[in-house]
Amino acid sequence: MKLRGAISGFGEVAAKAHLAGWRTREDVTLGVIHDPIAERRHEAIRLIKNVRVYDDLELMLDGEAPDFVDIASPPALHGAAARTALNAGAHVLVEKPLCLSLAEFDEVAAVARARQRVLMCVHNWKFAPAYARARSLVDEGRIGSVRSVSLERLRVEPAGMGGPGAVWRTLGASGGGILIDHGWHVFYLMQWLMGGELPCAVAATLSNNLDGVEQAAEIHVTFGAGRTAHANLSWRAGQRRTHATIVGTNGSLEIGTERLVLTEGHRPPQELLVQDIPDDSYHSAWFSGVAAAFEGAISAGPDSTITRANLVEARTALALIVAARVSAKNRGSLTDIAAA
Ligand SMILES: NC(=O)c1ccc[n+]([C@@H]2O[C@H](COP(=O)([O-])OP(=O)(O)OC[C@H]3O[C@@H](n4cnc5c(N)ncnc54)[C@H](O)[C@@H]3O)[C@@H](O)[C@H]2O)c1
Repeated sequence: MKLRGAISGFGEVAAKAHLAGWRTREDVTLGVIHDPIAERRHEAIRLIKNVRVYDDLELMLDGEAPDFVDIASPPALHGAAARTALNAGAHVLVEKPLCLSLAEFDEVAAVARARQRVLMCVHNWKFAPAYARARSLVDEGRIGSVRSVSLERLRVEPAGMGGPGAVWRTLGASGGGILIDHGWHVFYLMQWLMGGELPCAVAATLSNNLDGVEQAAEIHVTFGAGRTAHANLSWRAGQRRTHATIVGTNGSLEIGTERLVLTEGHRPPQELLVQDIPDDSYHSAWFSGVAAAFEGAISAGPDSTITRANLVEARTALALIVAARVSAKNRGSLTDIAAA
């Protein structure tokens, strides 16, 4: 039997990336949309044949009893929507951030455990061909053991400035700011590229605008045994650049969008090309990997390694965001993540 899915929040990322990803999955039907905005429901009707649309989440859950709900509404709504969907018996996939506070994270995770349902966050950069290739090269030991990871996300403005996302991305209370927008991604990527090790502490400098929403962030993260990660994020860099460097005990890797440069020991650098769609803010080609992992988690169950590893990664990304804000308030002092 196919899994019957619904999307809650049919905005840019749902229409441009999630829908295309679900359509690649043979064992899924995605024919139900919840969005309170009529224009977005009309867009769903335009894009999805025979779709059933709802303006109320609970009515949708009552009427459809979907096997899973894919939540792609603005960040501040994620936690409550996830709780409601889990309590209705659905598995839940949530766009990043899974929610905005650690207390809410733990509450939602407790509901998933009690209801024995899968709760997962969309960590789509792990399915970007360049990052997937980098992780394989690291796993093969091509650069020795990883000592440092550095991630750069430079942008000229927040994504979605022409649409509804312009409002929530630039307001702190609705989950705006670059730490939520790009910080979440770089925080799970650094854990993953370090082989799943948990970080210890963070030091951050944040540049804020008048609403208190971070526009730029310079972040240093420490891991065990002197390993470090660094992130440089900006919405006002005047250029778009997405880059990462991994340095190991016996080489290094430079990661661009369609090109990696591998240097092994004293050998000359080797250029490796990967195929990807043009770098935009929605990354439609990567979502089928996310969808496949979520289906895998549903088959493996809520207590499986795949489900638990995603939740640890997500909770740690949120703990890093919280600790980075504490550090920035204390003039960039090194802040223990466990204390966040
Ligand atoms: N993983 C990625 O690469 C990536 C990329 C872009 C966005 N995102 C995330 O996806 C989410 C949505 O981003 P977006 O750019 O599509 O934003 P958007 O503003 O374009 O879309 C949000 C949608 O949610 C709807 N909505 C508003 N209130 C709602 C409610 N109470 N219940 C359900 N839906 C509601 C809006 O009508 C809109 O259609 C955000 O959490 C964002 O961080 C992730």
